[in-house]
Amino acid sequence: MEKLVINGPSRLQGDVTISGAKNAAVAIIPATLLIDGVCTLENVPNISDVKISCSILEKLGAKVTWISEHSIKIDSRHIKSTSAPLDMTSKFRASYYLIGSLLSRCHKAEVGLPGGCKLGARPIDQHIKGFEALGASVNTTQGKIVASASHLIGTSIYMDTVSVGATINVMLASVLADGTTTIDNAAKEPHVVDVANFLNAMGADIHGAGTDMIKINGVSKLHGNATYSIVPDQIEAGTFMLAAVASKGDVVIHNCIPEHLDCLTAKILEMGGEVEESGDSIHVWCNSRPNKTNIKTSPYPGFPTDLQPQAGVVLAIADGTSIINESIWESRFQYTAELNKMGANITAQGKSAVFEGVDFLSGAPVYASDLRAGAALIIAGIIANGETDLYNLDHIDRGYECIEEKFRKLGANITRVNEE
Ligand code: EPZ
Repeated sequence: MEKLVINGPSRLQGDVTISGAKNAAVAIIPATLLIDGVCTLENVPNISDVKISCSILEKLGAKVTWISEHSIKIDSRHIKSTSAPLDMTSKFRASYYLIGSLLSRCHKAEVGLPGGCKLGARPIDQHIKGFEALGASVNTTQGKIVASASHLIGTSIYMDTVSVGATINVMLASVLADGTTTIDNAAKEPHVVDVANFLNAMGADIHGAGTDMIKINGVSKLHGNATYSIVPDQIEAGTFMLAAVASKGDVVIHNCIPEHLDCLTAKILEMGGEVEESGDSIHVWCNSRPNKTNIKTSPYPGFPTDLQPQAGVVLAIADGTSIINESIWESRFQYTAELNKMGANITAQGKSAVFEGVDFLSGAPVYASDLRAGAALIIAGIIANGETDLYNLDHIDRGYECIEEKFRKLGANITRVNEE
């Protein structure tokens, strides 16, 4: 079993370069199924969710070639199957984008129920509502979602809840539909905009991505023969910003879009950290113990739920009592039990948690319950006194590229060990 051995405390200092966004890449890769041609993706993060997305595409008949460490060429001209294997789709959440893409391109999709982080109930009713409104019939049977349509017709869809996945999936399903589709109460996350930009670069006609209302004028085909660079990962950048504050460090984060992190910057200033933006870099430093701060997660441009655990580490050692209210996921406080093993004083109940700041954390064996919990526990290990052994690295490898190398370069004492 692999584990990360982290010996702290370390003060993080130096430069780090952010990879392409996981949550954009895992949508754009299946979106290439819409293209009757070849396209090249750049700034692709080298993470396990991307590798499995590429393997599924190959099973469906696409040709995927890594042309450099972060670039892939995808040829989707000869799709031979509309059925994605259950053992592969169950490995990650974003496999649900295969439904919108296959439905759009082939009018048929059979996709095993998606897996992914266990964050409580993760319904896909809004995805299904959107597909059905476009004219598809959708059934869930024997662990699979089976969707088909003789043809898809543009329509108006109101999302009952703001959903990243449903917004992107309906966008994928409607790109080649007859007529115009509108998505009202759409998600506005940077990766939603990135998927729309990718599709437009390939010949789609999508307007309003990044606002509450997205309008998709159906086109007859997407042309390919283009290169698209995936947006930098907002959550990875935010993870390093919070690691800088937690370790009272001084870190310059390159290849990021500071505007995507405005709400985090505001919170870091409340915590007593300093932030300086310059082009595609953010310089974050903190010279003293962080201040207490309250946080409420909400859809973009609100505070991202995917940065909540990492912010929780800062509040665990802040001066005073802080409260986090989690408004997106039911079970995103599992990391707090692990932080308590390290000496934190956190009481989590339902969707809120009270953080009584302690003076320091102490190393302990801890387990990542999900991807962002894993990132949070790495930060906790870096600032804690003594050795932290972190297990369940599969979660972390799904979404962070070379995470221990990046932290090591900033001064952390962190090693991946294969334990007998
Ligand atoms: C995406 O998940 C991200 N995953 C998640 O990132 C992220 O936490 C989440 O958006 C919120 O920002 C990917 O992009 C692959 P949602 P998604 O649909 O699309 C409810 C990470 O750590 N809902 O925006 O699955 C749902 O229960 C991961 O990188 C419905 O009720 O999330 C939740 O409360 C974890 N019905 C809220 O909406 C639906 O049909 C937001 O979910 C869909 C969602």
